[in-house]
Amino acid sequence: MLAFPGETVAALLLRSVPSDAYRRADPLLEARAPLCLMGVCFDCLVTIDGQDNQQACLIAVHPGMRIERQLPSRGAV
Ligand code: FES
Repeated sequence: MLAFPGETVAALLLRSVPSDAYRRADPLLEARAPLCLMGVCFDCLVTIDGQDNQQACLIAVHPGMRIERQLPSRGAV
């Protein structure tokens, strides 16, 4: 995927990935996607370069970045 200079991970995902669910939230695996785009709702959490719970709306894309859908915690069904 190509990103614009200064573009956030959330903006890149919203315009590039056809999905209504960027992660599934415990305990019912509800679909979640970026909502506020200003660091308040925490609905944009993704895994970036192996680190969970990264707020995609607050992090600028950089070359070589590995962005993954965040998996539910181990306790989820
Ligand atoms: S979209 Fe709300 S915290 Fe990121």
